[in-house]
Amino acid sequence: KHVLFAASECTPFIKSGGLADVIGSLPQALVKEGAEVSVILPLYKGIIHSDYRRDMEEVMIYNTPVGWRNQYTRILKYTDRRVTYYFVDNEYYFNRDGLYGYIDDGERFAYFSNAIIEFMYRTDENYDVLHCHDWQTGAAVAIGSIKRPHPGMKIVYTIHNIQYQGWMDHSAFGDMFNFGMEHFAGFEWQGMLNMMKTAIHHADVITTVSETYAEEILTPFFGEGLETVLEYRRHDLHGIINGLDVTEYNPLKDDALDYRYRSSCKTKLKNKTALQSALGLEVDEAIPMYGIVTRLVSQKGLDLITHVMHEFLMEDVQLVVLGSGEQQYEDYFKSLVHNFPGKVHATIGFSESYARKIYASSDFFIMPSLFEPCGLGQLIAIRYLTVPIVRETGGLKDTVVPYNEFNHVGNGFSFESYNAHELLDAMRYSRSIYHDKAHMDALFNNMMQSDYSWAKSAERYMSLY
Ligand code: GLC
Repeated sequence: KHVLFAASECTPFIKSGGLADVIGSLPQALVKEGAEVSVILPLYKGIIHSDYRRDMEEVMIYNTPVGWRNQYTRILKYTDRRVTYYFVDNEYYFNRDGLYGYIDDGERFAYFSNAIIEFMYRTDENYDVLHCHDWQTGAAVAIGSIKRPHPGMKIVYTIHNIQYQGWMDHSAFGDMFNFGMEHFAGFEWQGMLNMMKTAIHHADVITTVSETYAEEILTPFFGEGLETVLEYRRHDLHGIINGLDVTEYNPLKDDALDYRYRSSCKTKLKNKTALQSALGLEVDEAIPMYGIVTRLVSQKGLDLITHVMHEFLMEDVQLVVLGSGEQQYEDYFKSLVHNFPGKVHATIGFSESYARKIYASSDFFIMPSLFEPCGLGQLIAIRYLTVPIVRETGGLKDTVVPYNEFNHVGNGFSFESYNAHELLDAMRYSRSIYHDKAHMDALFNNMMQSDYSWAKSAERYMSLY
C-alpha cells in the first residue's frame, strides 16, 4: 500500500504533544509491514530555522485555490530512513512562532488541507490511502472525498483528541473551499463550520487511538458534542492503540540519563539520588519519588492533583514536576515548592532531556487524566520501569494493568472515578508497597514484560488500509 499521512506536527521536526510522536513513529512501523509511506506537514518557522531545512529540496511550486483566491505553495522534500516528508511552504500562514494559537488557525489549516489535495493532483506518486489526523487536516478528508484526486483512493481519519475540533464561522465556507452550497451541510455543525465533524462525516474509515476511547466518544461526556455524528458512523469507527517508539525511548541508550540501565533497579536508583542532589531535594534513595510530566491542562487530571497533593506530601515522599500550561496549575506547583522545601521541585516549561531524567529517576509516575485518548507518558514510564498511577480512562485503561497483590499481576496502579480521594488512596497504596521487595520486584518484572511497541498496531492499520 502507498500511504500519504497528513498532519500538523511530527517528531523530530516539530512537536506540541503526543500527536507528533505518533506521526514520527507510526510511518516507520508501517514501512516494516511493507507499506510505502510519505508524510505531509506545514513548514513552520521552527523547521525553517532547524538543521533539517538544509537537507530539503524543492520539488514543486503551485497555486492552491482557497475559496475565490489562489495561495502560493511550495513543496520541499526531505527523506529520512525509509519515509519521505513533504513540507508545505507558505510564509504568510506558517512562518510564525510555534504551531497553533493564532486567530486565523481555521484559515491556516483550511489552506493546508487544500494544499494537500492539490499536491495529490500534481504528484507522480499514486496513493492508495490518504490518512489524515485531527482537526487540522479534517478539511482535507472532506475535499479529498468529494474530489478523489486519485481514483480508488481511500481516506482514513484518526481522532487523537476530540476536544479540539476546528470551529470556523459558517460565512468562511465560500472563502475557504471551492464547493457549491450542496456541500455546506457536510461541513456545518450547530451553525458553524467544524473541521472534525466534516472529517467524521466524509472519511471512508475513522479510527481513534485506543479501544476504550472509541467507545467513550460515543457518549455525551467524552463526545464533546460530536457523539451523534459518530453514532452514524459507528460501524466505521475503530480503536487502535498507539505504540511507543522503543528505539527512541530506551533507558539503556538514552543520552539524557546520568546512569543508563535495562533491568537493574540499583542503577535506576542512582539516577534518583543524582537528581535529588541536582535539585536540592533530600538525598536518600529510600524516599519514594513521584514524577509528573505533562501539559498543565485540565484534561490531565490536574484538578485531582491540586485537591490532594499537599495532603499526600505530609508523608515521607518527594515530588518532581515538569510542565507548562494554565496559570492556576503553574501557581499551584510553585506554592507547593514554597510550602515543602526539600521535598518538591517544579519546573515550569518543557525540556525533552529533563523529561527523560524525570521518567528515569522517579519511582512512580502520576497521570490521573479526566480523559486520555491514548496517552504517552504512561508508556514511557513503563519503559523506564517507573510505576504509573493512572485513572481508568481511554488508553490509560487499555495499557496499565492494575497491580494485584495476591497474584502479583499488573504493571501499575489505577482508580476508577474522577475523585481526588481515589487518587490519594492510590498514591498512598503505592507508597505503602514501596518498601515491600516482593511487590516491587513483581511490578518491575511485569513492566519489563509489557510490550507497547508499534508492531501489532501497525498490522491493524495495514489490514484496515
Ligand atoms: C493526543 C491525546 C493523547 C494521545 C495523542 C496521540 O495528544 O490527548 O492521549 O496519546 O494525541 O495519539
